[in-house]
Amino acid sequence: MDIKKLLSEMTLAEKLGQLTQLNAVFFNAENDADITGPAAKLHIGEDDISLTGSVLNFTSAALMKKTQDAAMARQPHHIPLLFMQDVIHGFRTVYPIPLAMGCSFDETLVEDCARMAAKEAAVSGVHVTFSPMMDLARDARWGRVMESPGEDPTLNGRVGAAFVRGYQGDGTDPYDIPACVKHFAAYGAPEAGRDYAPVELSEHTLREYYLPAYRACVDAGVKMIMPAFNTIGGVPCTANRHLLDTILRREWGFKGVVISDYHAHHEMVKHGVAENDKEAVALAVNAGCDIEMMSTATYRFAKELLDEGRITMEQIDAATLRVLELKNQLGLFENPYRVASEKEEKRLHLCPEHRALARRAAEESAVLLKNDGVLPFSKALRKVAVIGPFAKEQGIKGNWAGNGRDEDCVTVLAGVRTLLPDAEVATTRGCSWELGETKVPDLEEAVELASEADAVVLCLGEYQHHSGEGNSRATLTLSPAQMTLARAVLDANKNTAVVLFNGRPLVIPELSAIAPAILDMWQPGTEGGNAAARLLFGDANPCGKLSMSFPYHEGQCPIYYSHLHTGRPVANPKEITQTGYCSRYMDVPVDPLYVFGHGLSYNTYTYDNLTLSADVIHPGEELEVAVTVKNEGKRYGKETVQLYIRDKVASVARPVKELKDFVKLELEAGESAAVIFTITEEDLRFHTVSGAFDSEAGEFEVMVGKSSDELLAATFRLEK
Ligand code: GLC
Repeated sequence: MDIKKLLSEMTLAEKLGQLTQLNAVFFNAENDADITGPAAKLHIGEDDISLTGSVLNFTSAALMKKTQDAAMARQPHHIPLLFMQDVIHGFRTVYPIPLAMGCSFDETLVEDCARMAAKEAAVSGVHVTFSPMMDLARDARWGRVMESPGEDPTLNGRVGAAFVRGYQGDGTDPYDIPACVKHFAAYGAPEAGRDYAPVELSEHTLREYYLPAYRACVDAGVKMIMPAFNTIGGVPCTANRHLLDTILRREWGFKGVVISDYHAHHEMVKHGVAENDKEAVALAVNAGCDIEMMSTATYRFAKELLDEGRITMEQIDAATLRVLELKNQLGLFENPYRVASEKEEKRLHLCPEHRALARRAAEESAVLLKNDGVLPFSKALRKVAVIGPFAKEQGIKGNWAGNGRDEDCVTVLAGVRTLLPDAEVATTRGCSWELGETKVPDLEEAVELASEADAVVLCLGEYQHHSGEGNSRATLTLSPAQMTLARAVLDANKNTAVVLFNGRPLVIPELSAIAPAILDMWQPGTEGGNAAARLLFGDANPCGKLSMSFPYHEGQCPIYYSHLHTGRPVANPKEITQTGYCSRYMDVPVDPLYVFGHGLSYNTYTYDNLTLSADVIHPGEELEVAVTVKNEGKRYGKETVQLYIRDKVASVARPVKELKDFVKLELEAGESAAVIFTITEEDLRFHTVSGAFDSEAGEFEVMVGKSSDELLAATFRLEK
């Protein structure tokens, strides 16, 4: 399609329609699409709606085709609709939440899962996904940490790029669906961990830690970006010209589409930076926002603003052209349905291959937080008790689960019974998963089952809709009822393993002290129960590593490993009592309960012979960092070897350590591997005190190990 010619023939109303996105419910009453934000009056009529250029959250091939036909018939130039949806961690076959996928440290796995999601979504008529979310997540009180790969810029960027590759492919395959990186920017740093709250970051902190992961997705070729709801320095991201024009377009060279978040134009009135919707449109258009999601201010007020000379036709044409270009790249003018097909939906959705991949993802993103030796359980056990509010809970697919359904999910109880067909597997819920629950109606039954069992699987945690958007929490503990149940069951049977379900790090110091084993499954998705069973009984070997720190107490939030040293560091950050004038709490440790990068296996891996190829490097040279990793265990396993550096003296304070690289090894029992990382001067660059992105000569510490606090260390110098 000659889109420039098409643009030249379009009326202003048609162009403004292309810059408007409405939810599916406005196109088809049959549609049961999720309203993923506050629904509000549109203030436009049917004829205006028929000019809309894109639709949000459609749910099936049949509905999409019907709607596409009707819309194109009514469009004066028969421009096809763009169908977009939040395909965040799977479409109908749901894999673990992105925070869990970050714990896999496995870019290939992430890419494969994103590919699976893209195929399932594409056959249901989805053209674009609002994923990956790259908000740095350092505050577990914020409910949307579940959508992020975690707290580290390097890990998030590599996982984000893998998601983009998986969704978008090379753009030639009809199953490729453009990705939309969000929420630009720094949505993960809201004041007090409360969703939508203001973000206050220096330009240095924004650029050094919060922007790199979005940049990694732009460099991976992401086709769309979504500004965040929050303000940064008092400016809403949707109206933030510094972000959307200076950084995104001019510095990064992004040529794709910018789409607002849900109703974000109008929210600028609520922020108090726009007198009314018309003023909000002037701000958004002049900042560089193209499509307005789920509100119609641009459609209604752009003409007045044009007449007043406060926005220009060039801006409207440029934005419209970007939208038409995306539709053209997708071939929608020639084939408005793309690969939407009811037949393919039936063949692909929840097919055995997809379920197998979802199960593997759940196995590899699970984190074995603690194991005093009770795991793996023997498969010869005769009597197993599966107890707790998540024992037979099917609501373990997580929030933002696309078209996933709880009834598709395999529970822990079902998984254990499938794995141990000859064992007697009893169950009781014990208590509900409600926040703040105090009642334990099945306590006696739980104690009785635990007492009689050879082993107990105690399933505790946070319900899937208690994290995610709008679901910030000030307390991150398990309910009193769950802790009462845990104490009683653990007292009744020492051969007990806790399986945790959570959309964020939880505060579990007491549980961690009394439970001999804790396996964190996060929100594992459709195959969660099978994955949990295989891990618990040794058919799979845990290999996940935490992508986000587990606070010892909410009062520590935000808490993350790559912190600065301060001028008065504590002597023993793991100790509860600290004395003197140092950066401490009087009542809790400074360190988290479980650190970034932590994760156990049924093997023990030893790290030896850390050697550097030189003591000094110069720009243009490579430093090789070698280490030997040995699997001392009795079984095959995977181990993520992590490399951190510390810039010991610089023109700004630098983190005590920063992840710079990681590699996931596969090792047979007794096998050793020589791992070689390469560091160059470019890896040592940061935003200096002058704001330049550069390296500075001096001494560096390089650390390699199995987690951010179990490391071998050596030093080298950079000379320039
Ligand atoms: C929501 C979310 C955003 C999502 C959009 C469309 O409010 O903030 O992540 O993509 O609306 O559902």
